[in-house]
Amino acid sequence: MNTQPRRVEHQQTDRGYIPVYTTGVVEQPWAEYTRTDHEVWAQLFRRQRETLKNRATREFLENQERFGMSADAIPKFDDLNAVLKKGTGWEIVGVEGLLPDQVFFDHLANRRFPVTWWIRKPEQLDYISEPDLFHDLFGHVPLLLNPVFADYIQAYGKGGVKAHGIGADALMNLTRLYWYTVEFGLINTPQGLRIYGSGIVSSKGESIYCLESDAPNRIGFDLERIMRTRYKIDTYQQTYFVIDSFEQLMEATEPDFRPIYERLAKLDSFPAGEIQPSDRVIHRGTREGWIETPDT
Ligand code: PHE
Ligand code: FE
Repeated sequence: MNTQPRRVEHQQTDRGYIPVYTTGVVEQPWAEYTRTDHEVWAQLFRRQRETLKNRATREFLENQERFGMSADAIPKFDDLNAVLKKGTGWEIVGVEGLLPDQVFFDHLANRRFPVTWWIRKPEQLDYISEPDLFHDLFGHVPLLLNPVFADYIQAYGKGGVKAHGIGADALMNLTRLYWYTVEFGLINTPQGLRIYGSGIVSSKGESIYCLESDAPNRIGFDLERIMRTRYKIDTYQQTYFVIDSFEQLMEATEPDFRPIYERLAKLDSFPAGEIQPSDRVIHRGTREGWIETPDT
């Protein structure tokens, strides 16, 4: 049985010291998943569906159901793709793990979402430092069925290709946007704050913390503010940014970022946990329990 990812090397990136994998697209080796793999999926799936009731945004939960994801078995990429291609023209492609930025951007720009084919081990249910199948599939894929969000991710991919040609600072600004929206975003709904960020929905602890803890800041979405804000990769976020709708996200990111990158290059970045005078503060964090690790 080979359910080990094919790791090629480690590399220092803006996400820390991470393994880099072969960049090719791989077929999901579905028949090779072990009983333990399927059990890990089942446990995480049941636990998160329960945790996310009234915490995740309705679009996320409903789209997950449209895919027919269940605790029964690890979903087959081909089955998900049948729904996804018809829905928004996206497809998922199997990969070994985190990809170099340019490769990742190129996939997104062409409406292909890379999904890590392997799943974490039973002792990693609560925390794993790199994306696995559960994070990618359970966390990211559902919102690709939302037409506006699907377009946003593609626009982000195109923006990534462009930022890559501009330079490292532009790329960092753009990465922060992804982090604070796609990975750790909250959305305002008539029922209250809800989660849409994939990094949150795939973590039980952070799903509860981001909404219910008094410690973190919750601030209204502001593009340039986000692009200047460092983030945490080793603890829960100290600040969450709240959008009002996916349309707002789409509209705010439509303008050419080039002049923004140029302006921001001359300005300092903000610490992950600091409130700024211009912030639209929804909740000012008490900072309780924060461990001061360096921001990324
Ligand atoms: N408008 C951005 C640019 O000009 C591209 C982008 C769109 C980036 C959506 C992120 C999200 O670079
Ligand atoms: Fe992710």
